[in-house]
Amino acid sequence: MARLNFEVPMELTHALLPTLQSRRGAVLNIASLAAFMPLPNLSVVGASKAALLHWSVALRRELMGAVSVTAFCPGITKTPFLRAAKMDHLRLDERFFASEPAVVASRALDAVANNRAVAFATTLDTVSATIASFVPRRLAAALAHSILKPSR
Ligand SMILES: NC(=O)c1ccc[n+]([C@@H]2O[C@H](COP(=O)([O-])OP(=O)(O)OC[C@H]3O[C@@H](n4cnc5c(N)ncnc54)[C@H](OP(=O)(O)O)[C@@H]3O)[C@@H](O)[C@H]2O)c1
Repeated sequence: MARLNFEVPMELTHALLPTLQSRRGAVLNIASLAAFMPLPNLSVVGASKAALLHWSVALRRELMGAVSVTAFCPGITKTPFLRAAKMDHLRLDERFFASEPAVVASRALDAVANNRAVAFATTLDTVSATIASFVPRRLAAALAHSILKPSR
């Protein structure tokens, strides 16, 4: 998971960098709202997405002007991800805050078109990330732990 979420995007970007620079290209890294808080029971997802987010923002600064780098941070999206993460019993994808994949994809492309450093799929995701940034990490972990119970 850590390799897929963080190392592979880093390696791909480095491999493609000469082409990206010669064509003034753009990098879109799919991070997550999970990057903004420690997530017990999804701990590697959260940690690897936090690494991807920080690396994206730092890389954007390093490449400033030559290549645009966007870290896109969706919240819960109605894809098979929750089943793969063994969290489908929580039915988070049925809640009001779950987004449609087509909407999320469209917002991600808008973020690249607008050359955003960090972008979110919905206003609620933006607000959630902002609040999470101010909440002490131990408290955020305790809150997330109370929600993200693994299936038995
Ligand atoms: N769904 C959410 O709530 C949510 C929220 C925030 C961020 N995200 C992020 O959005 C991105 C897309 O996720 P999703 O929700 O669309 O999940 P998904 O429906 O489970 O799709 C994951 C995709 O990754 C591919 N994949 C998995 N392991 C791989 C590997 N080792 N090598 C190459 N490809 C691999 C899968 O390929 P196969 O189909 O061939 O298995 C699949 O196409 C991910 O980066 C995820 O972390 C999702």
